[in-house]
Amino acid sequence: MVSCPPRILDVSRSLPVVPAALLAAALTFTLTSCTDEGAGSGTGGTRGAAGLGDPYFPKLGNGGYDVTHYALTLDVDIERGKDRDDHEDHVDGKAVVTARAKQDLSAFDLDLKGMDVESVTVDGALARWKRKGQELIVRPAHALEKGKTFRTTVRYSGEPRTITDPDGSHEGWLPTADGALALGEPTGSMAWFPGNHHPSDKATYDITVTVPQRLQAVSNGELRRESTKDGRTTFAWRSAEPMASYLATLAIGAYEIRRPTVGEKKPPVYIAVDPEEAEGSREALDDIPDIIDWAEINFGPYPFSSTGAIVEREEDVEYALETQNRPVVPGAPDTSLLVHELAHQWYGNSVTPRSWRDMWLNEGFATYAEWLWQEDHGGDSAQENFDALYEGDYFDTAEADEGVWAFPPAEPPSAEHISDSPVYERAAMVLHKIRQAIGDDAFFDLLKGWATARRHGNASTADFTAYAEKHAEKTAPDADLKPIWEEWLYGEGKPKKA
Ligand code: TRP
Ligand code: ZN
Repeated sequence: MVSCPPRILDVSRSLPVVPAALLAAALTFTLTSCTDEGAGSGTGGTRGAAGLGDPYFPKLGNGGYDVTHYALTLDVDIERGKDRDDHEDHVDGKAVVTARAKQDLSAFDLDLKGMDVESVTVDGALARWKRKGQELIVRPAHALEKGKTFRTTVRYSGEPRTITDPDGSHEGWLPTADGALALGEPTGSMAWFPGNHHPSDKATYDITVTVPQRLQAVSNGELRRESTKDGRTTFAWRSAEPMASYLATLAIGAYEIRRPTVGEKKPPVYIAVDPEEAEGSREALDDIPDIIDWAEINFGPYPFSSTGAIVEREEDVEYALETQNRPVVPGAPDTSLLVHELAHQWYGNSVTPRSWRDMWLNEGFATYAEWLWQEDHGGDSAQENFDALYEGDYFDTAEADEGVWAFPPAEPPSAEHISDSPVYERAAMVLHKIRQAIGDDAFFDLLKGWATARRHGNASTADFTAYAEKHAEKTAPDADLKPIWEEWLYGEGKPKKA
């Protein structure tokens, strides 16, 4: 790398031994080549961008580096105040973030909302840091060269916050009747750990959580260790496959844990159920292995090393979320909801949107998976669901039926609308239009091929349309997908013809 000379302060300290000409050259070099946007003492490189410019959440994520691994060690105390919302849960955290520099970095940001930062080190050396809104700006003692892998350790503590989304729903840290639940779509993960909180930067995780012995801590991946000492139990979870941070979860509560035996070569199942929901959810949860088998036939090999579910009380969480490996559901789920959330393991969790604009690649596929399940299990066909939507006879109210046409699935008008009906149902209609255009064989190849081609990666809408066109050229050369993109994916209003 081009390493910048020391800046004025340091230069002047060594003035007596630096010839004037050299000093002048050094100063010029400093001014022309070493822009240092951040505050504090500069070294080489520049500060990474404070956000990745997501069309809906421009500040999410950070430029200049790519995270490869998070090691989170959290010590959690659950303290209920008078009511649930004024919780006094306390987290004592250590986050070790391993990342690769994508440019010469004099400083870089992590996203963290709330919590108190106690110290930050980079490769073992104390770093300077300051906070500005959700940005934790870190200035390492030594500049980081492009290509270098570096390790940032943040020690932090405090009461993690609940975040209210633009659409009014709640995420981040959610106190529950008997514990707490951390959820992160689209921005909530910054409430409980510092990171590069944008879906485009996926990483592996070790999440190690210590809670009072009466409780369990459930997270993503596989449980590697569980040990109790002095009245507190430590649960060590590992996600060896890449995960977007919005899919990370931590569920703390007095759960009933079920680990049903499954066949060899099947992903092990780990289920945590609030005892109040145990009876009502048994039947649907017993279907999980069958749902995975069915989905593998349609979508290809299951992309992760384990599966399961986390069932909270209905009043404890407002929505279901496809948290990696084991989705969270509010109260006893029906099979259709499990199909939806488990389909996300392929579409969303393994093939992850490049930005929050590409949400329909998650929700359209997961909704279409529900239709396919119905079609294969004696319910309505996908065509019938498509027709009901087109004719305004799908939802309970005319208003909801109208909502499908509110905006094009690939272009939600604002952050408030990224989980509205066009992103779900109309996006599923896009997939059905493709199926009609290329035929069943080619369509099911496309579902599998897409999941395989982008496995454990990221993809945008343009990546998908390009892939689908290429696929159609080979499998259905007479099909023309362009009108589908124009009218169904990007077009305003209801397309003229079903
Ligand atoms: N992804 C969830 C699902 O469909 C729904 C959801 C929960 C959501 N929170 C969100 C979607 C925030 C977009 C933004 O299973
Ligand atoms: Zn979904």
